Amino acid sequence: MGILIKNGQVVSSKGVDLEDIFVQGEKIVKIGKSLIASDLKEEFPGEEIQIIDAKDKLIFPGFIDTHTHFDLDAGDFHTADDFYSGTKAAIAGGTTTILDFTTQEKGETLNQALDNWHKLADGKSSCDYGFHMSITDWNSDIKKEIKDMTNRGVNSYKLYMAYSNLKVNDGEIYEILKAVKDENGIVGVHCENGELIDSLIKELKSNNKNSVSLHPLSRPKEAEAEAIHRLLVIAGLVDTPVNIVHLSSKLSLEEVRCARENGQKVYVETCPQYLLLDDSVYGKDGFSAAKYVCSPPLRKEEDIEAIWKGLLNGEVQTIGTDHCSFNMSNQKTRGKDDFTKIPGGIPGTEERPVLIYHFGVTKGKITVSDMCGLLSEQPAKLFGMYPNKGTIKEGSDADIVIWNKNITRIISAKDMNSICDNTPYEDMKVTGLPEMVFLRGKLVAKERKIINEKLGKYVFRGERTDF
Ligand code: URP
Ligand code: ZN
Ligand code: ZN
Repeated sequence: MGILIKNGQVVSSKGVDLEDIFVQGEKIVKIGKSLIASDLKEEFPGEEIQIIDAKDKLIFPGFIDTHTHFDLDAGDFHTADDFYSGTKAAIAGGTTTILDFTTQEKGETLNQALDNWHKLADGKSSCDYGFHMSITDWNSDIKKEIKDMTNRGVNSYKLYMAYSNLKVNDGEIYEILKAVKDENGIVGVHCENGELIDSLIKELKSNNKNSVSLHPLSRPKEAEAEAIHRLLVIAGLVDTPVNIVHLSSKLSLEEVRCARENGQKVYVETCPQYLLLDDSVYGKDGFSAAKYVCSPPLRKEEDIEAIWKGLLNGEVQTIGTDHCSFNMSNQKTRGKDDFTKIPGGIPGTEERPVLIYHFGVTKGKITVSDMCGLLSEQPAKLFGMYPNKGTIKEGSDADIVIWNKNITRIISAKDMNSICDNTPYEDMKVTGLPEMVFLRGKLVAKERKIINEKLGKYVFRGERTDF
């Protein structure tokens, strides 16, 4: 069946146009003013055409969340959401593609790590998906596998500058940046100075204190900004762009600004939590504050303001979620007697579009076109999916969100598709609803309910588009 979406306000990063969209099979085949079904039947024979009236609705290209951790092994347990529930949460909110982080275990090859993540995701996913490769164990054999990754559709990497089991040292960062540059890939980096954090934790614990309120003190903004500075010096030496993931503070943005003034290309991702929540939550309500434990931690009002400004003025290119969900009932509790054992991470993939629409667009902080750039177009370009994904163009995948601007609801973990038992956005009142979500031409979600599950396919990513 062909689908003709009429009278919608089609959003791109450049503006909003009143256009009709005709979808055949998995693709958008025609866009134009006042398309007529009988004409389309002649031009594209053999199909019944379903007409959807999208008057007064926004039409977004399917949103892309380039930062999820589904089915992540956290030691004694895995994240609450695996690829089955996590990708259902994604499409319910309007996200049609996610990029998850494959993690190389020590002693493992990159090919093995990628095989493992395919086993977790293939056949279970309800949105399209791809993988970044997190390199944790670097040597000359691993270097040879970077080419294999390109040949398997992976062109992006993640390095950690914190977490003793994951982090790479400065020399390794240098070598990895060089190797990835040779393949035209992009490296994203978790920037926090791990050694500084270890010392701060030791100091805090020596006072025999244990409270969630110590979490932000153990990971101050300086630990993030120093790591960003060091990374950018190394990237400058290699002469390659890098992507700073989950940037959380004004000080960090200043480091990025400095490097850009020196002519460096730097991409920045932030997340809804760093735009909507501040660190006052850690001091409240005893252990219940554990639900906000993530790294980097939530910051101050001035950081929030600086990052919103960065979104508006183009200093920040993408908003991912860092969806890494742990239940309060039986997982976050691991840190009851030691705040450093609280598994770090919060959910967000289901709520991200509506949070950015409500708190960004309806509050006048960014435009609807900015939202399209940040949640669809720029992620697609940065990670080699454009123009198949991230845009509404003839020839693009028919990943389409019909967005109702007027529906208001209260966010609650109880009525979400994520199976995590909490959301940091609980009780927030938001306006905006992904009324219909199409994944490659198939209706997969309607008013946040799943209509068709497990239709997600692996996205083989190629050439990145410069912007
Ligand atoms: O606390 C967080 N962010 N957990 C997820 C892993 C990461 O660092 O991105
Ligand atoms: Zn990280
Ligand atoms: Zn992450």
